[in-house]
Amino acid sequence: MSQIIIQGGKRLEGTLRVQGAKNSVLPILAATILHPGRTVLHRCPRLTDVDASVRILRHLGCEAKWEGDDLTVDAAGMSRWDVPDHLMREMRSSVIFLGAILARFGWAEMSYPGGCELGPRPIDLHLDALRKLGAEVLEEGGGIRCETKGLRGRELALSLPSVGATENAILAACGAEGETVLINAAREPEIVDLQRFLRALGCDVRGAGSSTVCVRGRRPTHDAEYTVMPDRIAAATYLSAVAAAGGEVELTGVDYRHLSTVTAALQEAGCRVAGEPDRVVLRSTGALRAIGTVQTAPYPGFPTDAQAVLMAALLRSRGSTVFVENIFENRYRHVDELRRMGASVSVAGRVAVVTGVPRLCGAAVRCTDLRGGAALLVAGAAAEGETAISEIHHIRRGYEDPVRDLRALGAEIRLEE
Ligand code: EPZ
Repeated sequence: MSQIIIQGGKRLEGTLRVQGAKNSVLPILAATILHPGRTVLHRCPRLTDVDASVRILRHLGCEAKWEGDDLTVDAAGMSRWDVPDHLMREMRSSVIFLGAILARFGWAEMSYPGGCELGPRPIDLHLDALRKLGAEVLEEGGGIRCETKGLRGRELALSLPSVGATENAILAACGAEGETVLINAAREPEIVDLQRFLRALGCDVRGAGSSTVCVRGRRPTHDAEYTVMPDRIAAATYLSAVAAAGGEVELTGVDYRHLSTVTAALQEAGCRVAGEPDRVVLRSTGALRAIGTVQTAPYPGFPTDAQAVLMAALLRSRGSTVFVENIFENRYRHVDELRRMGASVSVAGRVAVVTGVPRLCGAAVRCTDLRGGAALLVAGAAAEGETAISEIHHIRRGYEDPVRDLRALGAEIRLEE
């Protein structure tokens, strides 16, 4: 079983170009099937979640091939509208294909994505949006079947700004007759990236990044090339590692504005951060102080995906920091593993209190989920001695090559197959 081994306690220093964004490229890959032709995605990250999406595209009859970090999809030959259980189980966010398949074919079938390590992952808002756009949705026997005689645009409001439901609604609306106005849409930068991609295809989507997104459907589409936005959570992860271990890092190809709540927290903890439109520089002595309460929230609030890595960065800070996880029910599973390294964290429901300790000790730990695994990388970089991280398939879902990236910053880290 593969492990990542880190000899911690070393200053980190260097420059790193941030990978393409997992949470942008996954909906964009679903969106490629709206166009019965070719799309080329640049800076497409090599992730197991991307591999899972490529398997779904090929199952649907599309062609997909890699050239370096460019992925070319040809959806002309798409001939199926079902996503089988074994592909759904590989990646729960495959539900994002529902709206696009429905828009292309007027029919879509898939098994229920079910919950995950973070707790239940309901899709009621996704299905409600599709019904409002004119789809008949049957949920039976763990499966979902959608069909429509024609999607029709209309005004529809989400009861909460769900990222996935926003994306599914936008993709379905691209296949609807007339205009759709989506109210209380999620405002994440990844939604803006999806809109940019759809407009490159020729779709008429406006307003992404705000709470109201307008889509004029059934527009002619054409071949397109697109560069995926940088991964703001991968960026937050590497900034947290340098903040924890001490050192200096320049991240390039990243939009500073997408990270403002994370860099504000790291600055409050004592780091010096300078940001420009396409790079961020962070300097840290490694001796951090506790900060005010961290409340996760929909964008532009503090991102839930950065909660675990910021927690790991603060494990040796002076004082106590309160975290409140408002998005997912069960997103502190990394705490037990951090405790094995000497961390002092108490958890009660959605609240976690981190009390800084003078030192962390390397230990054998295992990833519980994607971002919990990333937190172990951050803690391992700051701990004295050797940390051996197992179950690293979780990390590979969202990070292209953390060993390569942390080694580029001077970490003593290796992959042990
Ligand atoms: C996306 O998940 C991201 N995944 C998640 O990143 C991220 O944590 C999340 O948005 C929040 O920012 C991708 O983009 C692939 P939501 P998604 O729908 O779309 C509830 C990572 O680590 N909800 O905004 O599933 C839901 O239970 C991953 O990269 C409903 O109740 O998130 C949750 O409590 C983890 N009904 C809240 O909304 C629904 O129909 C936010 O979920 C949908 C969601």
